[in-house]
Amino acid sequence: MKKFFALIIAALLLVTTSPQTFAQDKVALTESIEEFYSSLPQAKGKYKSRQRPILVEGAMNIETNILVKALKNPVAYRDSKYLFVAGTYKNYPVVVVRTEQGLANAATSTALAIKMFNPVAVINQGTAGGTVPEAHVGDIVIGEKSIPAAAFKTVYSPEGAGVDYTAQEMRGTYVYDETTKVFERQGEYLADKTLLDVSKKVADANSYFNVVTGTIASADWWMSWLDYVKFLNEKYGMAAEEMETVAAAQICHNMKVPFIGIRVISDNDINDEEYDSDVADRSQKFVLLVVNAYVRDVLKK
Ligand code: 5AD
Repeated sequence: MKKFFALIIAALLLVTTSPQTFAQDKVALTESIEEFYSSLPQAKGKYKSRQRPILVEGAMNIETNILVKALKNPVAYRDSKYLFVAGTYKNYPVVVVRTEQGLANAATSTALAIKMFNPVAVINQGTAGGTVPEAHVGDIVIGEKSIPAAAFKTVYSPEGAGVDYTAQEMRGTYVYDETTKVFERQGEYLADKTLLDVSKKVADANSYFNVVTGTIASADWWMSWLDYVKFLNEKYGMAAEEMETVAAAQICHNMKVPFIGIRVISDNDINDEEYDSDVADRSQKFVLLVVNAYVRDVLKK
């Protein structure tokens, strides 16, 4: 009889903590954030500011909620699928962009935001997979460089010969440059030196954050083939992989706006560390410190 009751209790526990309940919690969280966004004053007309704002990007609600709540006098702007919230942080104008996931969304929302808000600098932040053993879940990666992880050209191999994933070279993409009259090969983007220096200083001054500096690789994939991850590390020095940074970097490069990508590690297959969405808070908190230091030390406001 005792065994029977123990079985019933175990079954009940299983039902109440099942993935379905977890998914429902996530939906509730998303709905409450959506309600919060709709409750903000909605923009009427164009953005006007005496000072050029700093633009901070995150792909998902979990990557923008802390930022948006840190803004004073927030006003919501929308364009197609994208949400922008403009306000001030410590008396300086800041615009938070919800880019949505992936390269095309990040590129589009960044270009729209540059046109709408004329930012003085852009920081793309959020979660990423750690691809080196020293980047643990919760650690911050300052992207001194970003690369398009899938923009390569493969060596020809005939049908039936199988695939050697190492037989490839980074090709990038080509963009015509009016001033030099040549097609510029775009395959990697260095972080703006000043933003990089400020971010490193913030890391040094805040030992609460464990910070790694390295290359962020972006593609519309979630790459968990460890042999391939290792290959990309060795070939391109990739420290973290995610889906947006390089697209925002490319647009900022083309539109001449200083840019940096900063990510928090949310998962690391190499270390067997599972995805933890809660760490998304950390990258937002770190980036707010960077914004503050940039305004104080570079813009001198
Ligand atoms: N691989 C790919 N994208 C990841 N993200 C977090 N971790 C990873 C990972 N290991 C981010 C992406 C995207 C969303 C799925 O989460 O940038 O926005």
